[in-house]
Amino acid sequence: MIERPRGTRDLLPEDMYTRNKFEEILRRTCNNFGYQEILTPTYEHTKLFTERSGPSIVEDLYAFKDKSERDIALRPEFTASVMRMYAQGLRERPKPLKLFYFGPTFRYERPQAGRYREFWQFGTELIGPDTPRADAENIALAHFCMLNSGLKEFTLKISHLGILETFLKEKNVPPDDVREIYHAIDKETLEELDNRYDFLDELGTLLTSDMDTMKDLIENTNSVDHLQCVLNTLELYGMNEKNYKVDLSTVRGLDYYKGVVFEIDAEKLGAERQICGGGDYCLGDIFGIDISSKGFAIGFDRTLLALEKEKTDIGIWRPTCYLIPIGEDALSYTYELLATLRTEDITADIELMERSIGKALAYADRMNFKYSILIGETELKEGSFTVKNMKDGEQITLKKDELIEEMNKHESK
Ligand code: HAM
Repeated sequence: MIERPRGTRDLLPEDMYTRNKFEEILRRTCNNFGYQEILTPTYEHTKLFTERSGPSIVEDLYAFKDKSERDIALRPEFTASVMRMYAQGLRERPKPLKLFYFGPTFRYERPQAGRYREFWQFGTELIGPDTPRADAENIALAHFCMLNSGLKEFTLKISHLGILETFLKEKNVPPDDVREIYHAIDKETLEELDNRYDFLDELGTLLTSDMDTMKDLIENTNSVDHLQCVLNTLELYGMNEKNYKVDLSTVRGLDYYKGVVFEIDAEKLGAERQICGGGDYCLGDIFGIDISSKGFAIGFDRTLLALEKEKTDIGIWRPTCYLIPIGEDALSYTYELLATLRTEDITADIELMERSIGKALAYADRMNFKYSILIGETELKEGSFTVKNMKDGEQITLKKDELIEEMNKHESK
């Protein structure tokens, strides 16, 4: 038996139905915020991803040499690709450019619950404006994506990397050490650095302090003021401290972030609880351009897991009619109805296995059909159809026009 590759999944018909519904919700929310969809290639030159993060990132990539010995990598995310696309073909477009994308991404990770090697990201990039209001728009969109999906329990954590950066600079920490400290903050292993720095207690205070206390711990408070401005703007979106928390330990894993960053956690998911992450970043310089950009990516699969844990049904496929012809004579009459239903855009299927009525009805029930339509000698003679409601078992007889009208009322795409 040939198994699936590690870290990949087979998506069943019912999974795909829910996924498509979720995708629709996210797509609609982004359109609603004025964002337009784009798509970049599934693979890129490896250099696109190593340029900023260094060659060590290759370990986390699905990277290989193609037949012409080119270094190629499956995309681990979209952001670098979107900036490449921007630099190559979108630079002249009016700003702000508001873009979103959806597709599979690949990371050579150790698979576990909620962590895959092939997973889907739904993300956005906002290119152009470098204002606190643009940060707020970015965060608010992520928040509304979650709200519109029906997810109830999630925590939005907001930070500004400039605050930590200022603190470390004022403590004369060499720039090379900053990443290591961020990493320790992210992994909650700051105490392991204990003998190297004498400000760790103060750093601990900063990480848990409110906006006012932050100002007491650093001299240059520009980043705190910027963050405050973002929070004030979020209020205009109807968001307040009940919807987010300021958490300076949100440092993000990727190397390109600089200003306001945020993450959304669904605690119910345990270790792999981060369902969305993003913020203000700098990648344009790889292409020799200086442009502000902010975005986020939703872990599509993880968010669906969180919805499942909350028992929120985004959608279950409930096709409308199952046609059961009884006997050869009823076939052409049944196919005529089938064609009309399909032309009317009503989901209609027909029994193909020539089973008994009982078995055909049992199938219609298992497949969640709303109605079965029985067509035999009597129906043919009377020019009518017997319509069985699969929920309560009630049967009524309808003429074709009445049937189409009735089914149209129950059609849900
Ligand atoms: P990221 O935090 O690396 O950010 O990924 C975004 C989301 O993808 C995570 O929050 C998580 O839900 C999901 N995710 C990451 N790795 C896996 C995995 N192995 N299995 C399942 N889900 C996973 C980015 O990728 C940035 N490009 C986001 C961004 C866009 N920043 C600015 N613009």
